[in-house]
Amino acid sequence: MSTLTKVLERNIKVIEKNADLTEGRFRLGHHLMPPVGWLNDPNGLCWYKGRYHVFFQYAPFDVEGGLKFWGHYTSEDLVDWKYEGTALYPDSPYDCHGVYSGSALAESEKLHLFFTGNVKIDGDYDYINEGRETSTLHVESEDGIHFGDKEEIISFEKYPEEFTCHIRDPKVWKENDRYFMVLGGRLKGDKGAVLVYESENLKEWKFKHITTPEAFGYMWECPDYFELDGKKFLSVSPQGLKREEFRFQNIYQSGYFPVKEDGSVDERDFREWDMGFDFYAPQTFTDNSGRRLLIGWMGMPDAEEEYTNKTIDEGWQHCLTVPRELRVKDGKIFQYPAKELERLRKEKTILDDEKSIVEVRVEVNEGFDLLIEDIAVTDRSFQISMGGQMLFKYENEIAEIGFSEIAGAGRNKRKAKVSELNNIRILADTSAVELYLNDGEIVFSTRYYPDREDLQLKVKGGKFMGNLWNLRKMIFTK
Ligand code: FRU
Repeated sequence: MSTLTKVLERNIKVIEKNADLTEGRFRLGHHLMPPVGWLNDPNGLCWYKGRYHVFFQYAPFDVEGGLKFWGHYTSEDLVDWKYEGTALYPDSPYDCHGVYSGSALAESEKLHLFFTGNVKIDGDYDYINEGRETSTLHVESEDGIHFGDKEEIISFEKYPEEFTCHIRDPKVWKENDRYFMVLGGRLKGDKGAVLVYESENLKEWKFKHITTPEAFGYMWECPDYFELDGKKFLSVSPQGLKREEFRFQNIYQSGYFPVKEDGSVDERDFREWDMGFDFYAPQTFTDNSGRRLLIGWMGMPDAEEEYTNKTIDEGWQHCLTVPRELRVKDGKIFQYPAKELERLRKEKTILDDEKSIVEVRVEVNEGFDLLIEDIAVTDRSFQISMGGQMLFKYENEIAEIGFSEIAGAGRNKRKAKVSELNNIRILADTSAVELYLNDGEIVFSTRYYPDREDLQLKVKGGKFMGNLWNLRKMIFTK
């Protein structure tokens, strides 16, 4: 370990130890958050030697972002987590301005991590066409905790020349004894695309082709490719799409294309993963049971002019979504909280719909899991209000979430078209809420900041069967 790495390691441990986030009112109970400072994309998600590994973009020294490291959590059951410390430091000439996003490939003996090293050359550059070097790097581990030396596997000088300097976020997978990689990029005409590479040995990578539809944003970040129920999908986080009333409501998006037989994608087939305010850069992986799980960043880059996070005052910012299991139905991907999360449920309250309005008090600090099923909308509008801080409304085939000024911290409304509402599940944490409609056909993920300790939960406008559980907090060990 170099002296630089040792100094960084020591300093991070000191600030993590001194940060008393346990006191914070908005500290989360069932969402992974940074030990201190800033968190963004989930990285290197995998199941390896009996444990789930969740790495994440981590800026421990600055609650507003800045120099990126990889933080690391592990879990045996997706419910309780152990913080393993910092896995990757920006300590080499290839990544001295940030260890950027990437993925894991878990083989029987070794765990491989692939990521982007960010280097910004000092000088008068635009950092789009010039001034940035982003090589693809690789490290290996035999225990999933300690990693070997960084190795440059694709030099920034070797990327195809149609691209600007914006190429990053490798996702690697294995198919028929060969390895493949997708990288996200920005073409010189300001067009988002993925680059596809192939390898036989994980060391030498051959550029194969570019995948891009008609113009669809200027940059694609954090690509992912996977097969689910025999269908192929390409997931990307595009930037530069124009806002519409029911689509692309945030500054940046993330969603997926079904991949056609010839490997191409069509921009008209793009479907957003999540309709809430805070969701970006998701990544998927399979575990030992063969399930495909997704975790997203519950945050949004460059949104601070519109909305903020009140946790900045507590010394931390952002979190990850809960792990969601994916499945395909009618060509669409449905997302639903991994079954294991039901283990967080404590006492159950049955919500009785006889009166057509059901009210119950919930403790904000506890967090809750609300499941409303067999919904028959009887009035014009079906609503779930969380003490006036958040309102879910379903009216005229439009689902909408809205926030009070204080709770939203700048977040107002987000909408989605849904032809029928059959069921809704709300996972509410102290400052994060995830809503799953129709078994996960549509999802809204959003941070929110209630200014009360308990909320009057009110469901009205229809017949339904409801169950409410308050939740225990997941255990974090260090
Ligand atoms: C997405 C992203 C990635 C990059 C990382 C840097 O949020 O911009 O493209 O690798 O964050 O933290």
